Amino acid sequence: SRRRDRISTGSKSFDDLLGGGLETKAVTEVYGEFGTGKTQLCHTLCVMVQQSRLAGGLDAKALYIDTENTFRPERIVSIAEARGFDPRKSLENVIVAKAYNSAHQELIIEEAGAVIEDNSIRLIVVDSAVAHYRAEFLGRATLSERQQRLNKFMHILVRIAETYEVAVVLTNQIQASPDAYFGDTVRPTGGNVVAHTSTYRIHLKRSGKNRIARMVDSPYHAEREILFTLTDRGISD
Ligand code: GTP
Ligand code: MG
Repeated sequence: SRRRDRISTGSKSFDDLLGGGLETKAVTEVYGEFGTGKTQLCHTLCVMVQQSRLAGGLDAKALYIDTENTFRPERIVSIAEARGFDPRKSLENVIVAKAYNSAHQELIIEEAGAVIEDNSIRLIVVDSAVAHYRAEFLGRATLSERQQRLNKFMHILVRIAETYEVAVVLTNQIQASPDAYFGDTVRPTGGNVVAHTSTYRIHLKRSGKNRIARMVDSPYHAEREILFTLTDRGISD
């Protein structure tokens, strides 16, 4: 089987944090508050995966599962242009699936295998993985059902990552508010399905105009932080 290929994030220091880029055959959770760059990272990866191996990519396409209507085709175009890549081709090679609710999100991932094989996809984005579940399962009474459904979704993602040798990146918004108590990453109180099932976890934070990325709880990486910026090029040093 293929070795663990990697996809550049577009930032040298972010790549270093990941041990050389986003890993295939693994699920990487990116969590942080609003505006910390989760969606920008996803867009940049969609452009980078298409590049040659020498240029940090895998000569492959991306599947973008958009649950919050935050996929921006014009952003793919501008990131590609800023990096000197063909903008039209860059956009064509991102296959976008809009998920209208959690059941639809599950259906898309259950049927993703055929799409991946037909299109030589090596990157799957789920932005956001948890938003629909949060919106649909409110309060303590529904927590266990929500966790069961998320658990199932996460295990399908893990299986797809391994079977098709793709990199999976998913986003998870966290809030510094009381309802974060029920969040999936803030507290490890049974609400931690996403955190436990992901192979790697990256925490994004603001630092003035810049952003900080921290590798969390990885046995394979040093616990450290790096600085990156959000520019016309997407994620950048
Ligand atoms: P939520 O989805 O709300 O949780 O946030 P997020 O973490 O996905 O944030 P997102 O990736 O959307 O980051 C938004 C930030 O990216 C903005 O505040 C800008 O700083 C930056 N950004 C977005 N588009 C551009 C752009 O075209 N150029 C530049 N330079 N920065 C941009
Ligand atoms: Mg976002």
